[in-house]
Amino acid sequence: MTEKELINIPVFDNGPVSKDDGIIVIKNVTKKFGNLLVLDNISMAIEPGKTTVIIGPSGCGKTVLIKHMIGLLRPTTGKVYFKGNRIDNISEDELGKVRTNYGFLFQGGALFDSMSVKENILFPVKQHYKVNKNSGLDDLVKIKLALVGMDGFQEYFPANLSGGQKKRVALARAIALNPEIILYDEPTTGLDPIRSDIINELILKLKNGLGLTSVVVTHDMKSAYKVADRIIMLHHGKIIADGDADHIENHSHPAVQQFIKGQVSEDDLAVIRMGGEELKSQFLPEDFRQ
Ligand SMILES: Nc1ncnc2c1ncn2[C@@H]1O[C@H](COP(=O)(O)OP(=O)(O)OP(=O)(O)O)[C@@H](O)[C@H]1O
Ligand SMILES: [Mg+2]
Repeated sequence: MTEKELINIPVFDNGPVSKDDGIIVIKNVTKKFGNLLVLDNISMAIEPGKTTVIIGPSGCGKTVLIKHMIGLLRPTTGKVYFKGNRIDNISEDELGKVRTNYGFLFQGGALFDSMSVKENILFPVKQHYKVNKNSGLDDLVKIKLALVGMDGFQEYFPANLSGGQKKRVALARAIALNPEIILYDEPTTGLDPIRSDIINELILKLKNGLGLTSVVVTHDMKSAYKVADRIIMLHHGKIIADGDADHIENHSHPAVQQFIKGQVSEDDLAVIRMGGEELKSQFLPEDFRQ
């Protein structure tokens, strides 16, 4: 797909949404918490079988956006669709059924500390299905752990796993129900470059091997470039860039360049410098003299 085609994915200002428009469609979504405007009239369609990466500065609304995709948050105004059906206005019971199509890797991993690796992986299965003792659950756990290179760790507890191992187990749990879509919130944060790359490889493997649709929220541009078919940048509640890696790398918006190069903006610097002035005026050398 060319850069232009990626950017021209429909925005659906008019007319009904069909499942052909995208597996998940966000249509004119605004989200406010009290007076705080986090998402400002956002529209996007997530293409099936592709990896869409969402980048943007801390606090810009990335987690809030993907929580809308799975119905963990509801928009203040606007609509959210899964396969052409609205999910922003349905009951929690109905949402529970819809969510069986999703895997969600939460920011921070969030394994249950009091449960073994095996119990963690079986948790979503038992939550959604009645299972009897002899229904092949050990095999299911083994297959999922093998997919992330963690078979053999079934009886471990999270406290005895490294950060990278916990992320991999969380990923095995996220795919326990054979989802069609997997949402990753900062999957590589806190990992060293090698462990991060293992996660990147797993994201690629799940897409290429199982045909999963992925949405990845990340700060990590190396990871973004490696896994993305398409990168969307959020800034002040709006989409300011949307395209493939080349499009983002060469984007003219200063906020995009600052973000991908890890530079501090002039606004941020002004705040830091102002803080410095205040510090100086508060602590003069004579304050420390006897
Ligand atoms: N449930 C909530 N109630 C009130 N404010 C919220 C809630 N959830 C998020 N926010 C606010 O919405 C804004 C966006 O939060 P969000 O977690 O989406 O940021 P983010 O882009 O994921 O940041 P990070 O990269 O640090 O994870 C923040 O100002 C946050 O404080
Ligand atoms: Mg977040």
